[in-house]
Amino acid sequence: MEYHIKDPGLAEAGKLRIEWAERSMPVLRRILDRFKKEKPLSGTVLAACLHVTTETACLVKTLAVGGAEVYLCASNPLSTQDDVAAALVSEGFHVYSIKGEDTETYYKHIHACLDVRPNITMDDGADLVGTIHSERNDLVAGIIGGTEETTTGVIRLRSMAAKKVLLFPVIAVNDSNTKHFFDNRYGTGQSTIDGILRATNRLIAGSWFVVSGYGWCGRGVAMRAKGMGARVIVTEVDPLRALEAAMDGYNVMPMGEAAQIGDFFCTVTGDINVIRKEHFDKMKDGAIVCNSGHFNVEIDIPALEKSATSRRTIRDYLEEFTMPDGRRIVLLGEGRLINLAAAEGHPSSVMDMSFANQALASEYLVKHGKTLSKEVHKLPQALDNEIARLKLESMGIRIDKLTDEQNHYLSSWEMGT
Ligand code: NAI
Repeated sequence: MEYHIKDPGLAEAGKLRIEWAERSMPVLRRILDRFKKEKPLSGTVLAACLHVTTETACLVKTLAVGGAEVYLCASNPLSTQDDVAAALVSEGFHVYSIKGEDTETYYKHIHACLDVRPNITMDDGADLVGTIHSERNDLVAGIIGGTEETTTGVIRLRSMAAKKVLLFPVIAVNDSNTKHFFDNRYGTGQSTIDGILRATNRLIAGSWFVVSGYGWCGRGVAMRAKGMGARVIVTEVDPLRALEAAMDGYNVMPMGEAAQIGDFFCTVTGDINVIRKEHFDKMKDGAIVCNSGHFNVEIDIPALEKSATSRRTIRDYLEEFTMPDGRRIVLLGEGRLINLAAAEGHPSSVMDMSFANQALASEYLVKHGKTLSKEVHKLPQALDNEIARLKLESMGIRIDKLTDEQNHYLSSWEMGT
């Protein structure tokens, strides 16, 4: 199977949108220009399981220019942009992803990318690595290593490493400062609100907006909801993060209390069943519930389905469940990441840094993978810093340099007052 996509006829539309994204990805462009000359990924077969978006297309092209043979499948059944898949196929790439694919097709597509016997895996959520470890041990000998894009994937991989079952090294791209500081916070913040707006067309101003999880993503979502005039409530399980949310000016309370107040609910915890039956039972008529964490497990959808007496789809990505007492609860995007299901995911400018990390991580694996232990590694700090420097440069922002005197002062203890 060369490819499996929705409609090759969508290629032209996809190409234009990719061109638009490319313009906001100057750091990745710099890497592409260098890769063109140096071909650091020559001879590498790379399987990528990522959200198939315009930004991913730019990454795939960069990797290919660097010499890799790239095979791409989706990292979520609802996040594929079918026109982008078509555009990539029209340029000769092997893409296996269709927006709305069922679970069986999702895994068939993952296997299609594994059947080519990759040397490098690139994951967003660790589904490639998970499948290799559970079903395709035969591939391990040929794999130099993998890269991982998101918090949930890194958590899964760290759990494998701790149990000593991880069979090759993986670079946690999410751990780079130029990734999670910006992508998780500003990217998820903006695009989650974008997804909610596209799905509902509701006014955020004046509403009660509940954000579950005040990590990197939650901070971004809360900040943007507040910026649009919402009265924001944060729910947390970590005292430090809860304290931070309180001092950032948000209302902090348990979900059991927030459930009665919220107009919008958005989970971004990476955890399971954060909103469940006891919470649905307390929600107001018309409460809108969605998730922007990696998996669709943060909202207990089976419990909602079980409680409801009827359900109907009112708009794209908007399903209404009627409860026995007549209250209606609205679920967006089947509980999958709403920013990718109903909107287009993170803006390109922020993915520029995330995917610069991915490109440099694959180069790093080719150069050093054989010497790395079978654990989860960070990309070296120097590369992370260089991405920040290039991004600043592309934004026309200049900063100060330490003077010799300051360098000396900051590395000494003798000088007091
Ligand atoms: P994080 O680890 O920085 O934050 C998660 C927070 O959720 C923590 O503060 C934790 O204490 C809290 N939490 C855990 N269980 C909870 C519960 N039951 N109730 C309330 N709070 C709870 O993680 P980060 O980077 O913010 O990522 C969160 C999720 O979003 C992950 O699944 C990650 O993979 C995903 N993600 C999604 C993106 C998107 O495009 N939608 C982009 C980046 C990450």
